[in-house]
Amino acid sequence: MCGLVGYVGWRDAAEVLLAGLRRLEYRGYDSAGVALADEESEIGLRVLKKAGNIDDGLEKLLKNGSSNGSHLGIGHTRWATHGEPNDRNAHPHTDCPDELALVHNGIIENHQSLRKWLSGLGHEFTSDVDTEVICHLMEHYLQDEGDLSQALARSCEHLEGAYAVAVVQSPLGANEREIVAARKDSLLVVGLGDDENFLASDVPAILPYTRRVMYLENGDFVRLTADDVTVFRSDGRRVDRPVTEVQWDPVQAQRDGYPHFMLKEIEEQPAAWESALRGRLSGGEVDLQGLQFPALEDIEHIYFVACGTSYHAGMAAAPLWERLLQIPASAEIGSEFRYRQPLLGEDTLVVFISQSGETADTLASLDLAIEENCPTICVTNVVGSSMARRADNVIYTQAGPEISVASTKTYTTQLLILFLLACHLGRQLPHGQQHSETCDRLLAAMPSLSDLERQLLNDTTEIGSAAERIADWEDSFFIGRGLDYVSALEGQLKLKEISYIHAEAYPAGELKHGTMALIEEGVPVVAISTQPQLRDKMASNVEEVRARGAWVVAVTDQPEGEVARRSDAVIPVPDSEPELSPLFVGTALQVLAYRAAVLRDCPIDKPRNLAKSVTVE
Ligand code: M6R
Repeated sequence: MCGLVGYVGWRDAAEVLLAGLRRLEYRGYDSAGVALADEESEIGLRVLKKAGNIDDGLEKLLKNGSSNGSHLGIGHTRWATHGEPNDRNAHPHTDCPDELALVHNGIIENHQSLRKWLSGLGHEFTSDVDTEVICHLMEHYLQDEGDLSQALARSCEHLEGAYAVAVVQSPLGANEREIVAARKDSLLVVGLGDDENFLASDVPAILPYTRRVMYLENGDFVRLTADDVTVFRSDGRRVDRPVTEVQWDPVQAQRDGYPHFMLKEIEEQPAAWESALRGRLSGGEVDLQGLQFPALEDIEHIYFVACGTSYHAGMAAAPLWERLLQIPASAEIGSEFRYRQPLLGEDTLVVFISQSGETADTLASLDLAIEENCPTICVTNVVGSSMARRADNVIYTQAGPEISVASTKTYTTQLLILFLLACHLGRQLPHGQQHSETCDRLLAAMPSLSDLERQLLNDTTEIGSAAERIADWEDSFFIGRGLDYVSALEGQLKLKEISYIHAEAYPAGELKHGTMALIEEGVPVVAISTQPQLRDKMASNVEEVRARGAWVVAVTDQPEGEVARRSDAVIPVPDSEPELSPLFVGTALQVLAYRAAVLRDCPIDKPRNLAKSVTVE
C-alpha cells in the first residue's frame, strides 16, 4: 500500500529518493519522508517528513533544509493503516536518540503487545503507528549485537504480519554506509548499479538508474553498500537471488503528455490487447509457452478469486469457462472466500486474478488454496509479484505499468487472457469438444479486437454527451443482464471511484424487487445491451425505468435496435462476438467515468481514500 525506496552510492541521495518516491506516489500519498545520513555534520541522521502529497510537503522541506552532501538514505510514501495521516505518523521513524531510521510497508499485527513490552523496557514512543515498534526492537538489539543486519534479523523474529522494512543508521555510530532491509509478504526489490545500489518496493522507483534488479524472497534480508549487495536468511546463511533485466522503459511510466494517467491507459488498450496476445495466438492456434496446466479431467470445480475490478474480470470469465470446459465455475471475492470455508482440494482449480499480484486478500486466498493442495493459476500484470511466484502457473497480462488507481487496461487484458484460456482449455478437453466451434469462433475474432477498440476510442462524442448529463447528478444506476450485468458492475465501480457520483449496478430484472423505488424524474440509468438472447427483456426493463422518469442511455452494439430506440441517448460499441462484449463495454464505461470525473474536477489518478495496491486485509 505504501512505497519505499533506498539509496547508497555517489549521487545526491535526496534527489534519488525524491524522484523514486514520486514514481511510487500512486501507492500511497498521505505523507512522505526521507532519512538522510549526513556525514558532514554532527546531526548524523536528518529526518524530513510531512503529511500531504510530495509536492506540498516533502519537496518543500527538502528545498528549505540542506539536503546536500548525503549519499545514503531511505524514503517512504504512506497510505495510512495505523494512526492518522499526519507529520508525526509519517515515515521514516526513529528510535529515541535518532541513531537509526526506518521505513516500513505492511502491517505489524502484534504491534500492541510489542509496544507494551518495549514501553516496559523504557522505550518512549512518539507516534501511533505499528512501525515504530520495529525501531525500538532495533534499538534494543543493536545494543546487544552492535551490527545492523543481525539486529534486524533478531527484531524480525518478534514480528507477526507483513513487512518490507529498510533501516539506516547514523554515520556517527555506524562502521559503514549501509542499508539493511527485510521482507515478508510485501514486495522488495534491489536495483544494482555501478558503485551504487538501490532498494525499492516497486521497480518504477529505480528504473531511471538501473534495469538490473533482484527480487527478494519472503524471509530474505539484504545488506546494501555502494559496492556490495548481500542477501541472507535469518540464520545468517547467504543466499543468491537471480538478477533480472527489467524490460519496462522508464518513459512507459510517464504520462506521455496526457492530462491523466487514466486517459493514457485507456487509450493504450488496443496496444495492450495486442501485447497480451503476442506470441500466444497465431492462426487460431494458442501457444502458452510451456505452461503446465492441471489435468482438467480431474477438476470438479473452478473458482476465480479476486478483488474489485479483477473480481469483475472473474465474474465475466466464469460463465464462459463453465460452458466451454463443462465444469462448474464461479467467481469469489478475495476478502470473503477464506472465511466461508469453501470446499477445496486437488479437484478444485483456483484462478487468482490481480493486476498487482500483491492484493492481501487475494494473496491470502492463494495461500489457503496452496495449503489445500488445489492446483492454482495466477493472472497478473506484475512480473515477480508475490502471487506470480506462489501460484503453480502464472500468465501475465502484459499490459505494461498501470499508474492510475483505476484499473483500465489491466481489466480488459485480464478479460482477454481469461477468454483466451477458456478457449484453449476448452478445446483440449474431450467433453469440451461440443463447444469447439465456439472456441474457434472466439479465437478467430480476437486478433481484430484491437482495431475495433481503436475505432471505439477514435470517436467518443456520444460518451462525452452522456457524461455531461451524468456529471450533474449525485446518483446513477447501471443495469444489464447476464454478461452485461457484470459490465454494469464494473461501470458503476469506475464511476464511483473517480467521479464520486453514487452509482448502483443491478441485474435489470431485479430492479422491481426494491430498488425501483429510487428511480425518479431525470435520474440517469445506463442500460447495457449486447447479449442477443436478452435484448427483448432489456427493452422492457428500459421501458420500466423510463416510465418512472429515468433518463436512459443505452450502451449497445445494436444502435438501431429496440433498446436503443427506447432510450434517451445511445453509446454505440463495436458489434463483435457477444461473449467478448465486456471488452468494449468496459472501455466505453471507463471513458464515461473519466469524462464525468473531468467535468467534476476530481483528482482522477489518485481518488480520495484509495490506493493502487491494497496490501492490507
Ligand atoms: O491489484 P488487484 O487487481 O488485485 O487489485 C484489486 C482491486 O483493488 C482493484 O481492482 C480495484 O478495484 C481497482 N483499482 C478499481 O479500479
